[in-house]
Amino acid sequence: MPQDGTPNGDVSELDKLESDIISEIADASGLSDLDAVRVSALGKKGRVSALMQKLGGMSAEERKAFGQTVNALKGRVSDALEGRKAALEAAELESRLANERDDITLPVRPGPLAEGRIHPLSQVFDEVNEIFADMGFSVAEGPDIDTDDYCFTKLNIPAHHPARQDMDTFYLKEGADGNRMVLRPHTSPVQIRTMLNQKPPIRIIAPGRVYRCDSDQTHTPMFHQVEGLVIDEETHLGHLKWCLEEFCKAFFEVDEVKMRFRASHFPFTEPSMEVDIDAAAIGKPGQWLEILGSGMVHPNVIASCGLDPEKYQGFAFGMGLDRITMLKYGIPDLRDMFTGDLRWMKHYGFMPLDVPTLAGGMSS
Ligand code: DAH
Repeated sequence: MPQDGTPNGDVSELDKLESDIISEIADASGLSDLDAVRVSALGKKGRVSALMQKLGGMSAEERKAFGQTVNALKGRVSDALEGRKAALEAAELESRLANERDDITLPVRPGPLAEGRIHPLSQVFDEVNEIFADMGFSVAEGPDIDTDDYCFTKLNIPAHHPARQDMDTFYLKEGADGNRMVLRPHTSPVQIRTMLNQKPPIRIIAPGRVYRCDSDQTHTPMFHQVEGLVIDEETHLGHLKWCLEEFCKAFFEVDEVKMRFRASHFPFTEPSMEVDIDAAAIGKPGQWLEILGSGMVHPNVIASCGLDPEKYQGFAFGMGLDRITMLKYGIPDLRDMFTGDLRWMKHYGFMPLDVPTLAGGMSS
């Protein structure tokens, strides 16, 4: 047996095999090329594995020496394969990083977010909340089905008062306790709920659904109002006027708005005023449009909630949200607001991510 341990003395054969494989590895231009080299060298039927078959015809000593030589060769080939693999992977990553660039300044592709719309009325709810929140009001809520007591009696509308008929209220069946529930015909009962549960100073708005048995072009049996209530020890009519004027300017997004406060009558306020705005605010000068009812809270209402009317006073208002939505966004027919017509929503609706803020814009 030759000194180097190769059974046939053909050192150069092994050297040649090794240098062939190493140069194939170096030449492999991609990961799949490299894998083909690996299989042809180290695979079960590969060239290095084939060498092992020679072991069969060797003496124990020869086998040991030859085995070590082939294993060493295998080790060097494996290292070369690993090294080349790492280099090819790094190069591939480099080229992907160089080529697969995303331009994040491009506009967002249309997707589900571009499909959905916020109903103009929901948009107006958000706008109204935003404006009053900025003036320090919080949002109060009451149930759609409320007691006759909160909807009328405590609001200074006693039984048999004509105002009860004016409201076209939906009454529910009388309960065992003799109490009658109603679908609230206005958001004013939330005034009562708030005064019963909160100590002055009170500053709330209460947006929500209201119901009246009425249906034509300009009336639907369900519609929306926002109630406002301010109660403390020094509130006067000037505050009411300022507050409503600030609201109208912010809501209609104009610097000036002409308003007319017309003497009126509501059982729960004294004095009472209906408020009109000059339609110049919506681009139609020369017309007065009624948008809300308001007044100084009647002392009877304050007393019915257990507060001392000598100490506390304040103002209240109630505004039709459907009406101001139609005025602001030029919606001609009230009934279309509630038909769920997708084409109408596409036309009048708002993008979900365009949340109204005073700083960022109400309706832009
Ligand atoms: N509740 C009245 C209605 O539905 C609107 C209203 C008028 C509310 C004057 C008020 C107010 O708070 O002060 O017609």
